[in-house]
Amino acid sequence: MAVIIVIDDEQRQRDIIKTILEDEGHEAHTAPSAEKGLELIETLIPDVVITDLKMGGMSGVQLLDALPGDPVRPAVIIMTAFGTISSAVEAIKKGAFDYLTKPLEKDVIVLTVKKAVERMQLLKDNIRLQDALFGKFKMEGIIGNSKRMRDVIEVAKKVAPTSVTVLVYGESGTGKELIAKAVHYNSPRRTGPFTAINCAAIPDNLIESELFGYEPGAFTGAAHRKIGLFESSDRGTLFLDEVGDLPLLTQTKILRVLQDKEVRRLGGKDNIKVDVRIIAATNKDLEKEVANGKFREDLYYRLKVVAIELPPLRERKEDIAVLAGFFIEKYNKEFGKRIKGLSDGSVKALADYHWPGNIRQLEFVVERAVLMSDSDTIQVNDIRGEIRLPPEKGMLDIELPEEGINFEELEKELIKKAMFKANNVAAKAARLLGMTYKTFWYRLEKFGLHNNVSPKEDIYPEKRN
Ligand SMILES: Nc1ncnc2c1ncn2[C@@H]1O[C@H](COP(=O)(O)OP(=O)(O)OP(=O)(O)O)[C@@H](O)[C@H]1O
Ligand SMILES: [Mg+2]
Repeated sequence: MAVIIVIDDEQRQRDIIKTILEDEGHEAHTAPSAEKGLELIETLIPDVVITDLKMGGMSGVQLLDALPGDPVRPAVIIMTAFGTISSAVEAIKKGAFDYLTKPLEKDVIVLTVKKAVERMQLLKDNIRLQDALFGKFKMEGIIGNSKRMRDVIEVAKKVAPTSVTVLVYGESGTGKELIAKAVHYNSPRRTGPFTAINCAAIPDNLIESELFGYEPGAFTGAAHRKIGLFESSDRGTLFLDEVGDLPLLTQTKILRVLQDKEVRRLGGKDNIKVDVRIIAATNKDLEKEVANGKFREDLYYRLKVVAIELPPLRERKEDIAVLAGFFIEKYNKEFGKRIKGLSDGSVKALADYHWPGNIRQLEFVVERAVLMSDSDTIQVNDIRGEIRLPPEKGMLDIELPEEGINFEELEKELIKKAMFKANNVAAKAARLLGMTYKTFWYRLEKFGLHNNVSPKEDIYPEKRN
């Protein structure tokens, strides 16, 4: 299966080719002009592009020039009318993979596309081999010298070259996604895709189409074929974030894919072989979820072949200064500053804080401090506003007055505290208070607190309704 974009200003031509490609099991998209095609190429990162040579606007050869560079550059097949072979030859010189002469013949299209797909695969394999030869087996970008982080990195290095499933545990912001990516990019799958899906952010009824894809007509509104994440992650890694939030029925289906190494698109008849490594992450206690019947035990064992637990920052304080130093460098570059480090006082303040948002929060704090600081060292004043110690206990330690308690105020306080504890992730805060997302969101808006919601979370606003 490959992702292919067909560009032609004649709709009939586009549709015919699209159908041929889909019959071959590919995911085909079409564009009426080179300009529109380029936009699609940027978002879909196709393996192959089939484009007409002469179109109103940009030509097929101009499109070749405008393509993004390695490693995402697709194989381009140029279509030209009979009698204009010389321009096709010119296109080949400019880097086109092959050309087709019109009128097109089905068999020729199929064969040429097959060769292009094989060539792309070969290229990717090649990059992979070279990387292995040069032994690029480092866990780049993971900072931490504490014993616990060194243990984490050691396990990650051991599992990276294999395809075993990994379950990553950790509070919000501890680096779950970072470690998943490190495992992928240090594995032989690194030239394949790394795709991530946040199971908590996607409404239940959409999750299966995302994961398994669908055929046209699979349900109302399914007009086109959609390739799911299992398929598009073929030869790569699929990161199932917040896996504890998957509906039970979907869990069953995922288990089947893991066992059979095959998926079936919704509404489809065929099983499609997939070679995907799964890395799952959660900040829930999955064992407890299993005990409560919310998570399938068999899937749980299947996922945690290797478990990696990322310790919260407060349990590895010796890493705080190194991490802060790393982020100072990063933001020095970004903001063109020259901050040398942290004052003793600010190191102590950072170490005393309990970091509910872990490394992500530390990064924000340092970013702001670098931006705001007027001297060459970060002073306590530069960070004070950001990490005011929160009321650790006593949220519910409320003194009831003799009469006339303001219930609305109390409710608002609770919402605020839950948001604080959940690091502004509304879905988590809702769970803390035992409310549905919808009920919680309604209250957030009522108190005008919805602007605090972590921007990361806001990918699927339809979930609010
Ligand atoms: N050990 C580390 N070294 C350097 N940067 C780190 C480290 N751990 C985390 N980070 C950075 O902190 C941020 C949060 O990490 P990440 O997104 O991986 O956390 P997460 O556990 O997936 O969080 P959430 O549960 O909220 O999704 C990222 O910008 C990441 O690059
Ligand atoms: Mg994450």
